Amino acid sequence: MDTYPAGDPGAWLANRGDWSKVIPACIQCHGPGGIGVGADFPALAGQPAAYLQAQLTAWKAGQRPPGPQGLMGDIAARMDAQQISAAAAYFAQLPPTAAGQPSGTAANSEKAPISSAGAAPSPAERSSGAPPSGFAPPPADAIPDNEFGKVVRQGQDIFLRTGEHAGKFVGNSLNCVSCHMDAGRRKDASPMWAAYVMYPAYRSKNGHVNTLAERLQGCFAYSMNGAMPPADSETIVALESYMYWMAKGAPTGVKLEGQGFKRLPAAAQAPDYLRGQKVFQKNCVLCHGADGAGQKAQGKMVFPALWGDNSFNWGAGMHSVPTAAAFIKANMPLGGMDVLTDQEAWDVAYYMNAHERPQDPRYTGSLAETQQKYHDAQTDLYGQTVNGHVLGSAAPPPGGSLRK
Ligand code: HEC
Ligand code: HEC
Ligand code: HEC
Repeated sequence: MDTYPAGDPGAWLANRGDWSKVIPACIQCHGPGGIGVGADFPALAGQPAAYLQAQLTAWKAGQRPPGPQGLMGDIAARMDAQQISAAAAYFAQLPPTAAGQPSGTAANSEKAPISSAGAAPSPAERSSGAPPSGFAPPPADAIPDNEFGKVVRQGQDIFLRTGEHAGKFVGNSLNCVSCHMDAGRRKDASPMWAAYVMYPAYRSKNGHVNTLAERLQGCFAYSMNGAMPPADSETIVALESYMYWMAKGAPTGVKLEGQGFKRLPAAAQAPDYLRGQKVFQKNCVLCHGADGAGQKAQGKMVFPALWGDNSFNWGAGMHSVPTAAAFIKANMPLGGMDVLTDQEAWDVAYYMNAHERPQDPRYTGSLAETQQKYHDAQTDLYGQTVNGHVLGSAAPPPGGSLRK
């Protein structure tokens, strides 16, 4: 389960990050248990604490070159001295070849907390950096220890490792958190606390009022390229409970500050494939691969697929260029802060979505008809011709790994 002792800031930083300072979880780049990913993301597990601490301190002081895309230099600069020593101590005690996630839980339960409450950031400081005004969800480590809390944790587990905890309904390598950052807590990354209070709501996508359960079913069918869990299934009940817990005390029926993905102003120049390709090569290939298929470490997805059979399908919200541009501008490259210009975000979103992905599950048997019914927006590339290819015409059937 993704709950670490409240007095163990190293475990929290490693597995969940500190999004109030835009520090992603270390494992998002260094792999589950810090085992390392490919050639560019070194293993941290089992390295001496003094060595790890010295590297981070050197980056902070500008004494080690910032490394690929300057990512690690930037992240170290945002860490304070306590976070540096806590993270170093945490990874030093993990077995070098630890696979499986969350690595921290088992190894750590036998250990004394690394530092006591005095030095540790308070739960509020670890929360997702809510604006001074506006609603903030309870701290991530405040899930109650009772029967209700159990189901909330189950929902959190599903959210963080969807394939592992709700595999029957997942057809790709993504998790809910792949797009809803900081375990669904981060504002402007469509946070779950803000979504909770918006339902039931009318959706033009299907032309009727959706309950929260139906909205969540859609996430599985489209974003997860899978199958809809029944509305009263354990999976949906757990996710709803997690959302309810996060939204506790929020006013209902109003759009909270931070809801949804923050739209970008219209692109100054029409988004362009070739410009997008350049942005992609410079800023995205390191993690998502030149073919957009993502990267695994010891069989576990670390960097999710952006297109192809293992990604979201043509019915998912992210296939829309304005939605993808908004997401990318605010969240990618992971750990970089405001690296892309608005124009670059538009161009790379266009490039990403000008590739084939699994078919829209609503496909009627005719591309033209499906386009007309569900994809008639100018900004929707489904059915459009890019580089001589009609997008959607060579889409693998939906369902991905569930088909096999
Ligand atoms: C956005 C991706 C990303 C995240 C998140 C990230 N790292 Fe890194 N880290 C890197 C990259 C890339 C390198 C390699 C840097 C280089 O080659 O100079 C690296 C290298 C390191 C090193 C040097 C290892 C060595 O063998 O010299 C340490 C220590 C480190 N990271 C610690 C952390 C900690 C602690 C966290 C979490 C607070 C973290 N990293 C989160 C990308 C990341
Ligand atoms: C590929 C990225 C992606 C993945 C994976 C994903 N989502 Fe989303 N989600 C989105 C986008 C984009 C939207 C915005 C809606 C739109 O534009 O269609 C959204 C919207 C939502 C909303 C409605 C938010 C609101 O404020 O109305 C909920 C709830 C939600 N997602 C839950 C989930 C859950 C639960 C999972 C995992 C089962 C998940 N999502 C997986 C991209 C994703
Ligand atoms: C340092 C590694 C890194 C870089 C560089 C990076 N990403 Fe990501 N990206 C991630 C990770 C990790 C996730 C999943 C987030 C999570 O699990 O919290 C992700 C998720 C995504 C998603 C949503 C999930 C999916 O598979 O569709 C999109 C879209 C995306 N990235 C696009 C981009 C684009 C475009 C760029 C370049 C501008 C980029 N990323 C650069 C690491 C990276």
